[in-house]
Amino acid sequence: MPKPDENKKQPFLTDVKTLRARARQHIERGAVTEGYTADRETVLKLLNEALATEIICVLRYRRHYFMASGLEAQSVAAEFLQHANEEQGHADQIAARIVQLGGEPNFSPDGLSARSHAEYVEGTDLIDMIKEDLVAERIAIESYRDMVRFFGEKDSTTRRMLEEILATEEEHADDLADLLGDSAGTAAN
Ligand SMILES: [Fe+2]
Ligand SMILES: [Fe+2]
Repeated sequence: MPKPDENKKQPFLTDVKTLRARARQHIERGAVTEGYTADRETVLKLLNEALATEIICVLRYRRHYFMASGLEAQSVAAEFLQHANEEQGHADQIAARIVQLGGEPNFSPDGLSARSHAEYVEGTDLIDMIKEDLVAERIAIESYRDMVRFFGEKDSTTRRMLEEILATEEEHADDLADLLGDSAGTAAN
């Protein structure tokens, strides 16, 4: 435990004069101020990987939406389409944040699936598609959880954005697990 007088030496808040002086330095960096302590290179790399993951998920869900056929295909296809659109929303949020941090979002198709954490698997039938989507969501959940931990207090804006995205991925995984459960019930009947 630090003694009370040690706390005084290191004030928790930056004094106003320093704050004002620092804000005037490097104004071309926009939202990225001197107090931004996260390693920007790593941050931009991670966010571009997350962007690639979302784009791959958009592509995979859209493929599954158009290819869904058979029993119950309509309701499952509707779920695929909704997920595809939500992943697109995530991609847009992440790209906007990359720009805000002074980086460039990588939309290049070259190396897209290598940058992505989740895989693009076409799937053989409806059940297989749902399974592959669930696997991809579980990958996204794990990698977002890691990123949330990485950003911690260093960049709380990015952390909060990722926490929101993570919550949606958990909902997606839950939806897919329900669909698998339903189809197992149907198959057993
Ligand atoms: Fe997503
Ligand atoms: Fe998702």
